[in-house]
Amino acid sequence: MSASRGEFSSRFGFIMAAAGSAVGLGNIWGFPTQTASNGGAAFLVAYLILAFCLAYPALMAELVIGRHGQANAVSALRKVTNQAWQKKFAFLVGFGGIICAGLILSFYAIVAGWMLSATLEPIAQLTGQVQAQTWLSEQSLSRNIIFTAAFIILTIAIISKGVENGIEKWSKRLMPALLGILFMLIIYVMTQEGAVEGLKAYLVPDFSSILNPELLVNALGQAFFSLSLGTSVMIIYGSYISKKENLVSLGAYVTLIDVFIAFVAGLLIIPAMYVAQAQGVQIFSAEGTLLSEDTLVFQVLPALFTSMGYVGIFVGFAFFALMSIAALTSSISMLEAPVSYAVERFALKRLQATWLIGGLIALVSFTIVFNLGSLFGFVITLTTKIAQPLLGLMCCIFVGWIWHRSALLKEIQQGCPEAGNSFFWKVWPWYIKFVCPIAIALVFANSLLS
Ligand code: PHE
Repeated sequence: MSASRGEFSSRFGFIMAAAGSAVGLGNIWGFPTQTASNGGAAFLVAYLILAFCLAYPALMAELVIGRHGQANAVSALRKVTNQAWQKKFAFLVGFGGIICAGLILSFYAIVAGWMLSATLEPIAQLTGQVQAQTWLSEQSLSRNIIFTAAFIILTIAIISKGVENGIEKWSKRLMPALLGILFMLIIYVMTQEGAVEGLKAYLVPDFSSILNPELLVNALGQAFFSLSLGTSVMIIYGSYISKKENLVSLGAYVTLIDVFIAFVAGLLIIPAMYVAQAQGVQIFSAEGTLLSEDTLVFQVLPALFTSMGYVGIFVGFAFFALMSIAALTSSISMLEAPVSYAVERFALKRLQATWLIGGLIALVSFTIVFNLGSLFGFVITLTTKIAQPLLGLMCCIFVGWIWHRSALLKEIQQGCPEAGNSFFWKVWPWYIKFVCPIAIALVFANSLLS
């Protein structure tokens, strides 16, 4: 490993950085919203199955490619190829992932901007700044532009500092705090009227809807989004893992933490929706469908915090502050994907590359802000429901079909000499070769045909 590339300094540091990438708005904004609009518990069951059976093996594929390549996504994918067409394919998948990461950041920064403004709102309230409070709490062009820009600048500031002092240092600080505050809020919500009904909607599945093609494709997209797959992010994070580490357990930790936090966020948000509805906030229409999907969390949670009285102001502040931080540990991974490519491919300085690419992404973000009604949903669908699963599938094809099995095994055995004999490694190469691509393709075909 060349010293200039950077490397995670410890196992804990990697887990926190990769889990930091995985845990973000997808867990606390995306997952509960998707669950609520896709039939509650049935979605949860589909999600859990797809996350462990398809997304985790696909995550392993990306981490292995990355650690083997010790380079940006395009070069790492190229390294396992030997024929000309394979090299072109590697470029397509690696570069496609990089573009996908940039596009995700462009809408992610908007939602994270909402989180930032929701963090400042309680401060405005406490200090009696009524005008500022109204401005912070309402959707407006000026608010969205300012906070989107602020969030992108924060992301740039961290990424320009590199792996160990930027990504790792920040990622490992605040995850425990986020969990603590989630649990505290769940306990409070459970004491409120309506919570039990919400809990039932979340935990008691109606199995008849589980094979609904729309539900399945949404759950797959959500699982890939949540584990940051198909965006070359996990390839690049994999490339910063030391050869001494055991990849299987690292990947398993990241998946478990990610799924656990999404599940816990559901325990908070879904019952909170029912509590808010019982308190007179309009969450569902008369037919029982969700009224405002994208901004759901921003209606439900503030209503909850208000119901807590004075304490709610502090809890609201702490919650949204931690959410902004969780969003930041994800957004830095999205920016790292194109930046590491630009630095290695065009020999740019990290600082220049970060500002250049961050600036470009900000322009795309502003375009979306100006056309929120038409572009926001479109970019989300394009990246998370289509591009991520398909690019993730391609990574499985690289590992299963293009890379030589013996070379793959050699890479895996670094840091885990007994790997060759373990059950996981005996099954996984076949699994990634046949089961993952076919299952992902089936979920797609199913939703296209329905
Ligand atoms: N996994 C992140 C989340 O759940 C989002 C993400 C997607 C991060 C793609 C990096 C790449 O919020």
